Amino acid sequence: TGLTAAMPGVLLGDVFPNFEADTTIGKIQFHDFLGDSWGILFSHPRDFTPVCTTELGRAAKLSGEFARRSVKMIALSIDSVQDHLAWSKDIVAYNGEAPDSTLPFPIIADEKRELAVQLGMLDPDEKDKDGIPLTARCVFVIGPDKKLKLSILYPATTGRNFDEILRTVDSLQLTAQKRVATPVDWKLGDSCMVLPNIPEDEAAKLFPAGVYTKDLPSGKKYLRYTPQP
Ligand code: BEZ
Repeated sequence: TGLTAAMPGVLLGDVFPNFEADTTIGKIQFHDFLGDSWGILFSHPRDFTPVCTTELGRAAKLSGEFARRSVKMIALSIDSVQDHLAWSKDIVAYNGEAPDSTLPFPIIADEKRELAVQLGMLDPDEKDKDGIPLTARCVFVIGPDKKLKLSILYPATTGRNFDEILRTVDSLQLTAQKRVATPVDWKLGDSCMVLPNIPEDEAAKLFPAGVYTKDLPSGKKYLRYTPQP
């Protein structure tokens, strides 16, 4: 359909669009919603679907972890606010919470798929009964400067891992402050890599806890670890 033809999307480093949207907490202007916080926007193919329900349930359970990291959460699905509110009751029940509980984050109603198109979030393989693509499972992490810091895109049929999303937030927030990078499977507290563009003498000053360089067959000294600064 024409909906997929010109999917613009948002690239790393772009200022995230300051869109206006209807949500379960009323109309928002995205940048005002974020304020000075980090933000995470995660999209869902459709309300009242199984994988999405498990994802939003888990996201709700982790809301304290996101709040601790000063990350404002917002979900998006292509149904109406009314549907979102009815579906939210299912999600809190799925989480085993009281019927009067509410989700700790709003859900955007993108009924016309305008944001889905603008943000490059459509999944061409999953269509509704009219043959129109559903939203994929996008994760966007936005920094306090409103720029896109990370995006992950899953198809509708693959649920996300929210532990991994929190792990990426930890890495993004650390590497925004310190001149390190985080290696494979890194978790908060693990050793980090000294950035390749930092000369040896400067690295020694920057990382007083010590820099350990692993010897490699190439003789190049690039595998440099330091305790998490
Ligand atoms: C789900 O959330 O379960 C789902 C939604 C759309 C397509 C496939 C799965």
